[in-house]
Parts: sequence; structure tokens; C-alpha cells
Amino acid sequence: MPITKGIVTGVVSNLVTIEVDGPVLQNEICYIATGGDRLMAEIIKVIGKYAYVQVYESTRGLKVGAEAEFAGHLLQVTLGPGMLSRNYDGLQNDLDKMEGVFLKRGDYTFPLDTEKRWEFKPLAQVGDLVEAGSWLGEVDENSQPHKIMVPFVFEGRYTVKRVAPAGQYTVSDKVATLTDLQGNDIELDMMQRVPVRKAIKAYQSKPRPFKLLETGVRIIDIANPIVEGGTGFIPGPFGTGKTVLQHAISKQAEADIVIMAACGERANEVVEIFAEFPHLVDPHTGRKLMERTIIIANTSNMPVAAREASVYTAMTIAEYYRSMGLKVLLMADSTSRWAQALREMSNRLEELPGPDAFPMDLSAIISNFYGRAGYVELANGQTGSITFIGTVSPAGGNLKEPVTENTKKVARCFFALEQDRADKKRYPAVNPIDSYSKYLEYPEFAEYIAQRIAPNWIDKVNELKTRMQRGKEIAEQINILGDDGVPVDYHVTFWKSELIDFVILQQDAFDVIDAVTPIERQKYMVELIIDICRSQFEFTNFTEVMDYFKKLIHICKQMNYSEFESEKFKGFEQELKQSLNGDFNASKY
Ligand SMILES: Nc1ncnc2c1ncn2[C@@H]1O[C@H](COP(=O)(O)OP(=O)(O)OP(=O)(O)O)[C@@H](O)[C@H]1O
Ligand SMILES: [Mg+2]
Repeated sequence: MPITKGIVTGVVSNLVTIEVDGPVLQNEICYIATGGDRLMAEIIKVIGKYAYVQVYESTRGLKVGAEAEFAGHLLQVTLGPGMLSRNYDGLQNDLDKMEGVFLKRGDYTFPLDTEKRWEFKPLAQVGDLVEAGSWLGEVDENSQPHKIMVPFVFEGRYTVKRVAPAGQYTVSDKVATLTDLQGNDIELDMMQRVPVRKAIKAYQSKPRPFKLLETGVRIIDIANPIVEGGTGFIPGPFGTGKTVLQHAISKQAEADIVIMAACGERANEVVEIFAEFPHLVDPHTGRKLMERTIIIANTSNMPVAAREASVYTAMTIAEYYRSMGLKVLLMADSTSRWAQALREMSNRLEELPGPDAFPMDLSAIISNFYGRAGYVELANGQTGSITFIGTVSPAGGNLKEPVTENTKKVARCFFALEQDRADKKRYPAVNPIDSYSKYLEYPEFAEYIAQRIAPNWIDKVNELKTRMQRGKEIAEQINILGDDGVPVDYHVTFWKSELIDFVILQQDAFDVIDAVTPIERQKYMVELIIDICRSQFEFTNFTEVMDYFKKLIHICKQMNYSEFESEKFKGFEQELKQSLNGDFNASKY
């Protein structure tokens, strides 16, 4: 097929109009020559012989009359062993292959190492019938069993004609030959190219997810649990702790693979990730966390179009690892910047705007994207998952703005960060009343959690929430009526909710011990705190209540900062029991 070419007829910032001389596809990639650099762009709309393309780089100096060449394929990524521990930009350029943190205009790098030899083990047998996603072989990628699969773009069934024997191969060595139904042989290496904007459907079914994904963050695991293959989002005004919370989750969640899409965040935050992540140790394996992490970074100083692409690049890589039967955790910070990129493009195209000038189909775009996450059963009976958590930065903290509203419709967990809690340094500033996890309502989750943690666990979680709600109502009454205006009992109820807040919900992301709470420890603390909350206390006035509970909170926090069940921890536990047995005669102790 001859290559379609074109001539630039208009440039409005990153939106370029090209008059084409042949057929082009929606979302096809093209390269525009600026007389020095070659700029990569993607078709976002075609009208007659005009293609409207978004350019992934600065269009500085680009003039009408410049020549363009169409690539004949859509925006795609190259998938294969060697992606773990890499830092890519939204177009999968390897950021470590360049000088400085960011690419020069017109620079593109190959995302995989072409020299490295991987220890390959065949999995398929000659004569096997295979289809897209079938496992042909396996290599060890930083201790993860990386499957070499039939390319996702293959349609129908194939017969395995040859699989290479165990041995060392590079990504471009031929490791398998398949025969299609017409008898044609197709040789495969360890790489495949996949368009990013379409979901990879190489799985059997996508049942409702139900297995707890332990994050080590108490306010999530206990009060708003997320599951393997679940979806959640973290809305929060400027500076309320979205990034810290997301990093905390990604550092310690029970996932095989972590993919972080830093989408449009400030450059210094991205540099922080690059500086911080390589040093982090995985609390589950003691190995470097970066070994199972991929970072996709686009900062707000890069053109909007590249940010927009980065979430799709990240999701496609996540789908690739999920097809290997792995548990993938995907994080995007912030999805608002992605939506802003959509808005800018839509406005430049002069499309009919939806609410707040976002594209009319924003809701569909967000829901399609979240819909790509999930828990899947593969054709070979194995399972894999993509758990997706995105942050949203609503302008002015307004949760009624379109990105928050549309995300709320599709994400099953809502971790709402609140300005007021952040101001009071009650971190993570997740609002304990408004936040939720819909998984708590799934019977399969209840059954799973009853076995995994305790039979009456969800009742306890609901009791904690009711007590928080009650505490909030009393705090409002005390605010209006004054400390003496309500009965002493009310103060007790209020301080019980403070105990829950300080000891269970708040957590110091920067303390080595407190930052990660394994589920067994969470269970112990919940039972301890609920026992205290269920106890009757006798006090004569509200200052007594406050002093007493402040003391309890102090001891419990020391427990949180001590290694679980260490001598130090047991010392505080003893001190707590003595306080409970002391002057105020708590009925249970
Ligand atoms: N769990 C936590 N423990 C201790 N401090 C925290 C915690 N969460 C947030 N902070 C504090 O709040 C600051 C801001 O957090 P962060 O950068 O995550 O906010 P953000 O919501 O991502 O901001 P932006 O809107 O600018 O992206 C952190 O630098 C830290 O000092
Ligand atoms: Mg942030």
C-alpha cells in the first residue's frame, strides 16, 4: 500500500490541519517534518481530505506547507520483556536513554533493550491450538514470570508449529512459529505492537471482583476497601495529599506489578518519583520496589496531547501484564490533567462543548477507561487483575465539577480528601463519612472477607462508621451549645469517635512502621478499639473525659509507631490495659 502523505494547511498550537493525498485512519499516527525535527502526531478527526492531528510535541516553528507522512498504524506501544523498572513518557520513550529527564523535540527512543538475553522456557507444545493471548513461553523478568504470548492483534485460531527450546534469546529472536487456518506460517519474536486506545480483550470472562487488595493503608483496607481488579478514585483539592496517598498505596499494596502514570503533574513531583522510587524496598519481598514498577511520566510542561496519550499507554501495559495472570496496580495522577487535555483539544476543534467546556462525551471516555480495569479469567483458567486508582483535582474543591461527577459514576471506591482534615493535619485526609467502597455491599466480598479476616468484620466496620457519624453530629452540637451545653455522655461518645479517628483512620505515611499496617495488625487494632468503644465509662465532667481519652489516644498511637507484638508494643498494650482498669472503671477491663 502506498504511504499517504500530506501538506500542513493550518497550525493552532498543537492542533494541526493536514491536507492528505490518500486514505487515512482515525487515530492514525503521522510524522510532520519541520525542516530539522520530525514531530509525531495522531489524527483526531478527519473531514473530507483534511486530517486534524494533535501533535505530541511543541509545534514551535512549524509552518503551513510542511510535509507530513502517515504511518499506517494507530498510536501503539511495543510490549515485551524488559519494561519493568523503566521510566517512560506517554509515548513509551525510554526516559533513561536520554540526557536530562525529558526528551528533546523529535527524539524517539526504543522502549526495550534489544541486546539483553532472556532465559526463555517454552510453555506451549507443538500442535497446540492457540489464539491471541495464549502463553507460548516464559522468561524471568525481575522475578516475575513474564509470559510470551500470541499477539493480541491476532484474530482466530492458530496451530503451534514450533517453539524454541529453553535457552537465552533476545527480544527480536524468533521463539515460535504458528500456522494459521490457511496454512501460512507466522514467525514470532518476544515483542508485539498493540494500539493503546482499544481495550485488550484476550480473556475468557470478567467476573465481579471480590478479593481484598491489601494496601496497608488503614482507612482504605478497613473502612473503604478496594479489591483486586477494583476501581477507585481520590478527589481532593490542591495539596490535600492525593499524591502522598497514591504513593503510599503503590509502595505497599499486594500487587505483582505497579504502574504509575504521572500525568501532567508538576515537573518537580515527577523528578521526586524518579528520585524516591529507586530506593524504596518492597515490604512484601524485601527487594527493590522499582523492580516491579513502571513509571510513565508526563509533566505539565509537556504538550497536552502527550499527557492524554500517557494514560492509555499505561493501561495497555497494565493489560499486557494482566494477561500473564498477574495482579497489576495502576495509578494515574492526575486524571483531571488528562481531562483538561481532552478539553483543550476539543475546544481547538471547535466542537460543541459539554459542561465546563469539557467534551460532550467526557462521561463515555472516563467510563470506557475505568472499564478497562478489572479482574479477568483467562482462557487457561488462570486469573489476572488490574486495580485502577486515579486522582482527581477538582477546581476549588468543587466535587460537582464534571470530571469528579463522571468518575464517581464509574469508580467503585471514593476516597474523598477534605481540605478541613488536611488543614488539621489529620492524614490521610480521607473524609471518613463521605468516602465509600461499594465492594462492602457485594455478597462475594463479604464472604471472602469473613474467611480472610473475621466472620463479623463488616459489622465491625459499620459500627466504626456509625460511631464516626455520631461523633461528628455531637461535635456540631458542642460547637453550637458549648462544652457544658451537652451531657457528659455526649463527650464520651465524641471522644470515642476521636479515638477511632486518631488510632485507626489517621496514619503517618512518613513513619517506617506506621506507614504500612498488615491486615492482621489492622484486625487487632480494630478489635481493641471497638472493645474500648463498647465499654461504659463513668466521668463527672467533660474535661475528665477529654484528658482520659487523650491519654488513651497517646498510648494507642505509640503502639502504632512500634513494631507489632514487639516488647515495646506489649509495654504500651500493658499501659493501656492499666489505664482502662484505672480510675474510671471501664466495664470490660
Ligand atoms: N499521609 C500523610 N502523612 C503525612 N503527611 C501527609 C500525608 N498526606 C499528605 N501529607 C502532607 O501534605 C502535603 C501535600 O500532599 P500531596 O502533595 O500529596 O498533595 P496533592 O493533593 O497531591 O497536591 P496537588 O494538588 O498539588 O497535586 C505533603 O507534602 C505532606 O506534607
Ligand atoms: Mg499531587
